[in-house]
Amino acid sequence: MSLSKPKNLRWLAVPALALAAGTLGLLVNSCSTADRTIDAAPVIPGAHEVGNKACLDCHAPIVQRFPSSPHARVHLAALGKDGDTGCESCHGPGSKHIEAGGGPKFIINPGKDPAACLQCHLETRSEFQSLHHHPVLEGRMNCVQCHDPHGNDIFKPAGGLAMGRRSESCAQCHRKQTRPVVFEHPALREGCTTCHNPHGSLNRKMLTQSDPNLCLRCHAEVPAPGLSGQIYIGNTDHTGFLQMGTCWTAGCHTAVHGSNVDVRLRY
Ligand code: HEC
Ligand code: HEC
Ligand code: HEC
Ligand code: HEC
Ligand code: HEC
Ligand code: HEC
Ligand code: HEC
Repeated sequence: MSLSKPKNLRWLAVPALALAAGTLGLLVNSCSTADRTIDAAPVIPGAHEVGNKACLDCHAPIVQRFPSSPHARVHLAALGKDGDTGCESCHGPGSKHIEAGGGPKFIINPGKDPAACLQCHLETRSEFQSLHHHPVLEGRMNCVQCHDPHGNDIFKPAGGLAMGRRSESCAQCHRKQTRPVVFEHPALREGCTTCHNPHGSLNRKMLTQSDPNLCLRCHAEVPAPGLSGQIYIGNTDHTGFLQMGTCWTAGCHTAVHGSNVDVRLRY
């Protein structure tokens, strides 16, 4: 780990303390493979850190819900500060912003820029570089469409679906897969991430597995008693089907997200 620029110094404290804490593997990993993305660490010339309490007067709603965010835990412990400086680890030191009476001056608003997140989440960056991925690094989407940087609900809800909250953010953009249907596939209740990696994957359609194992995890194959080598799923002999391709190959269960017409999810 060699980060030469002085402005990186405060980030060096993070991995060291994280290692001591023993639980913050993410930062340890991140920094040991540092490819200088940490350069973006927030610096505001002439400003110093003042702690979260100093933000309370003017940004009470955010300051009040922030302690329940996983980031509040991390920044407090990892930065080894007496005060609570979580806000400033993303927004930069706040003294000049406050001296100026607030306003957009002398403070960093990362806005939709994923660089503000990727400086720490290097593993996430490589997921977005996988063969099949959401177009975040291409600038067509961003982290805060799915993640709330301030609150407990780091998986931002989008409302309306009777499923795990983690799927709700997907519904904003993927109506077709999330609309109500007559024949639901209960797998979706466990969340979209049961079958998809939300950032990216080597498999097409960002699937977590590329073959029938994606489905057999829940639909255990049952060798029929007395019949040699035959694979039954439910009441149906699938021995031949499983040689034809994946379970969602054309002609089979293409309507994996649910169907309005077929209980077997074929169309
Ligand atoms: C993990 C990084 C991160 C931390 C920690 C963080 N913020 Fe933010 N903040 C952001 C991002 C990203 C945005 C822009 C969000 C957007 O544009 O949707 C933002 C936006 C804001 C805004 C302007 C927009 C708004 O929602 O009003 C304020 C004010 C703000 N943050 C204050 C705070 C305060 C106060 C704290 C600490 C209690 C804090 N932030 C902690 C990342 C962070
Ligand atoms: C004296 C009041 C005051 C204090 C204290 C204060 N702010 Fe602000 N802040 C403002 C005002 C006013 C704005 C501009 C209006 C708005 O965006 O809500 C602002 C805007 C911001 C923005 C958005 C800037 C932009 O370009 O959109 C961020 C981020 C922010 N503040 C973070 C902080 C953090 C972090 C602290 C504590 C270290 C803090 N503020 C303390 C008054 C204050
Ligand atoms: C200063 C480094 C840092 C920055 C900047 C940062 N994070 Fe994190 N984040 C962490 C660490 C460390 C954890 C691990 C928290 C834990 O395990 O308790 C984490 C956890 C998370 C988690 C997972 C929470 C969980 O419960 O598994 C998400 C999601 C996340 N961050 C998203 C973001 C987003 C989005 C941004 C940008 C707005 C961002 N992070 C900016 C350090 C950072
Ligand atoms: C399309 C929505 C989406 C976008 C965009 C997105 N995430 Fe995530 N992210 C998720 C979901 C959903 C999970 C939960 C994964 C799970 O439960 O298996 C997650 C998990 C995480 C985690 C926890 C560790 C892990 O990988 O499971 C981190 C850290 C994280 N995201 C950071 C980021 C950062 C940084 C960005 C932007 C560069 C980003 N995410 C963009 C949806 C998204
Ligand atoms: C802000 C909008 C947005 C959100 C939220 C979103 N997606 Fe996407 N999704 C996209 C875009 C844009 C593409 C790329 C489409 C393209 O390239 O034509 C995409 C593509 C996909 C693909 C197909 C990838 C391929 O290889 O064809 C899958 C699967 C997917 N998203 C799943 C999810 C899941 C699961 C979630 C929730 C964790 C989610 N999306 C949340 C916008 C979104
Ligand atoms: C049971 C596993 C499973 C679950 C759960 C699941 N998907 Fe899928 N999804 C698939 C499979 C398999 C494909 C690939 C279908 C194909 O190649 O034709 C796919 C494809 C997609 C595509 C690409 C569609 C296209 O036409 O290219 C999107 C978008 C998508 N899923 C979104 C979601 C969303 C959003 C959720 C959560 C509401 C979700 N998926 C839950 C298995 C699943
Ligand atoms: C997270 C667990 C889970 C995963 C993964 C999963 N399923 Fe399901 N699926 C279920 C449950 C639960 C049911 C309802 C009970 C049943 O019929 O076994 C179901 C029902 C079905 C049905 C309707 C069966 C009937 O006769 O009514 C089909 C077809 C199906 N799944 C296909 C698939 C395919 C194809 C995949 C892989 C893309 C898959 N499932 C992955 C849990 C899962």
